[in-house]
Amino acid sequence: MKGIILAGGAGTRLYPITKVYSKQLALIYDKPLIYYPLSILMLGGIKDVLIISNEETIPLYEKLFGDGSQLGISISYAVQAAPNGIAEAFIVGEDFIGKESVTLILGDNIFYGKLNFFYNAIEGNGDGATIFAYKVNDPQRYGIVKFDESGHALSIEEKPQNPKSNYAVPGLYVYDNRVVEISKKLTPSARGELEITDVNKTYLREGKLKVQPIGRGVAWLDTGTPEALLKASSFFGVIEDRQGFKVACVEEIAYQKGFINREEFVKLIETIPKSLYRNYLEKLLED
Ligand code: DAU
Repeated sequence: MKGIILAGGAGTRLYPITKVYSKQLALIYDKPLIYYPLSILMLGGIKDVLIISNEETIPLYEKLFGDGSQLGISISYAVQAAPNGIAEAFIVGEDFIGKESVTLILGDNIFYGKLNFFYNAIEGNGDGATIFAYKVNDPQRYGIVKFDESGHALSIEEKPQNPKSNYAVPGLYVYDNRVVEISKKLTPSARGELEITDVNKTYLREGKLKVQPIGRGVAWLDTGTPEALLKASSFFGVIEDRQGFKVACVEEIAYQKGFINREEFVKLIETIPKSLYRNYLEKLLED
């Protein structure tokens, strides 16, 4: 299973924050936003990751993560010339995906809680696609799925004016290799984008789409507005302060998952400047 983080886009809704750097580098409590989606892929056991973004931002991600080897994973980078739609990730990433299955996570999507819904999707991934459904209060802003009484998906609509349900499709998608061919055949929507919802509708039509509801014990947080960024920061601030655990600490995850051994973890810590973040990692060595 390969992993793609789509982390480009115009980010205009967060102007002026996004005038100088991309939204996915904005601060969520104590680390850049993109750490959160990367941590989800790593927790899912995905060790081969492609970060797609615009040309100006790729060097900044490279500065953050390098080739990923310090985390025991491989991170490569590709440019999306313009924000032509989420499904373009599979066209830009075609060579990277090769013959394998792929998980896509949007660089501005944050999940927190028990991730079994995701682990099960990765394990059970064979033929077809698995996407998720999460109850929200503001369904007009998302891809929306309608279920029948037995829990089968009937329809998916992108940002409907009159939503048929409150179940939004989060920006985390698990696909078989056919997603590349399906994406190549798409035509741009009215807003000029290759829509991920159109990819999902193709799988749905073919009877190859699983839509897995995510329970209320999981937080899927929004990052679309300055207020949402502040709320997400407070949320993780409270959790980290209360428990003393960091969330989305990719170095910790690399060590816990066995992607790097103790010696490599020690070396990694030595590259980090003296900071609370480093103190936290050093403490893990003692535990
Ligand atoms: O967050 C979940 C929602 O994400 C889904 O429910 C929708 O079905 C899906 O279309 C998408 O909706 P958004 O309106 O939130 O998508 P947005 O255009 O904001 O893009 C999401 C992220 O992907 C954002 O961080 C920018 C990045 N992006 C987006 C596009 C269209 C790219 O890097 N390249 C692109 O071409």
